[in-house]
Amino acid sequence: MKLGDFKLERYFAKHEFTTPYILCASDCESMQLGELLAMEPGAQDRFSSLRLGYTDSLGNMDLRQAIATLYEHITIDQVLVHSGAEEAIFNFMNVSLNPGDHVIVHAPYYQSLGEVARGVGGEVSEWKGNPERGWELDLNDLERALTERTRVVVVNFPHNPTGFLPDPEFVHELSALSDRHGFIIFSDEVYRGLELDPSHRLPAFTDVNDRSISLGVMSKTYGLAGLRIGWIATRNKQIFHSMAGFKDYTTICSSAPSEFLATLALRHAEAITRRNLNIILANLDRLDRFFHTHKNLFAWERPVAGPIAFPELLRGQVGDFCADLVEKAGVLLLPGTLYGPRHNNFRIGFGRRNLPEALERLEECILEY
Ligand SMILES: Cc1ncc(COP(=O)(O)O)c(C=O)c1O
Repeated sequence: MKLGDFKLERYFAKHEFTTPYILCASDCESMQLGELLAMEPGAQDRFSSLRLGYTDSLGNMDLRQAIATLYEHITIDQVLVHSGAEEAIFNFMNVSLNPGDHVIVHAPYYQSLGEVARGVGGEVSEWKGNPERGWELDLNDLERALTERTRVVVVNFPHNPTGFLPDPEFVHELSALSDRHGFIIFSDEVYRGLELDPSHRLPAFTDVNDRSISLGVMSKTYGLAGLRIGWIATRNKQIFHSMAGFKDYTTICSSAPSEFLATLALRHAEAITRRNLNIILANLDRLDRFFHTHKNLFAWERPVAGPIAFPELLRGQVGDFCADLVEKAGVLLLPGTLYGPRHNNFRIGFGRRNLPEALERLEECILEY
């Protein structure tokens, strides 16, 4: 299997731990271990007495139970825990595709969603969001792109990097199309729960369509990326068993401390999500003011969900702009060219508490533009 460089991750590898202000993080503010353990009396003692052997390959039972509560029709034996969402993407593409199969990916996309499919011999085409219409997807475009060999359609709502979220009707129409044509929907829902208005939350695809796969993770909505705990939830028995078997060749099982901490966090999912949404909402108000002041330089549309957005740079090349910012202001933005050559946009993240300082540095630097 041959994989191209993961451009976005290589960019982070270069800058993430040396640039003072990360203004393009895709996750929410993390917390200290002690803060998480303090959420429940006795958690500290239970954590200390945890045994550090191998764990259940499907995922710890309590953890799977906590994950199942995030869905309507999912039981514990329909949840398979992975090391991050990334492992689940890798394993899903490996078990579901054969060389020559056609995969359609909601674009722009987090690179592994297309790259791994390509690596296993899939032919990948893009289903592009329309920037003129808030990055909306058109089901007619999808229908036109379908072929006899289309095996998987990948969607990502709320969307990285644009924050796009369709309405529930769209989800049901896409599900019906999947039943008519036979393709499987792989639904990356790692930002589910971060809708600015909770009434906009979509049903999980796995609850709507019994052949589809929903992908979740502790990293984004809960800000606990360091746990490296992700999962798939699916009623598709064939995919579930193939993925469970494939995992024997990747990680076998997850880390016991991480599983314990993820279970604890999910028991307090609502409180953690509320805390993160409060950070996002306060930061978005600041960004609205900032982008209004600088509307000659940037095109900004307030997203409806998630901790990231994809504003356009109206003058100059976004790659040069971002490089300049790192060097002169110590602020990291992510050039849209890492998502594809045509995007003169950049990813901005607003799930972190230090956004006000980062924005001040950015503002000082752009005065020259
Ligand atoms: C849309 C999307 N899917 C999957 C992942 C992978 O998540 P993790 O790094 O927690 O495995 C990311 C991470 O940025 C993402 O943005």
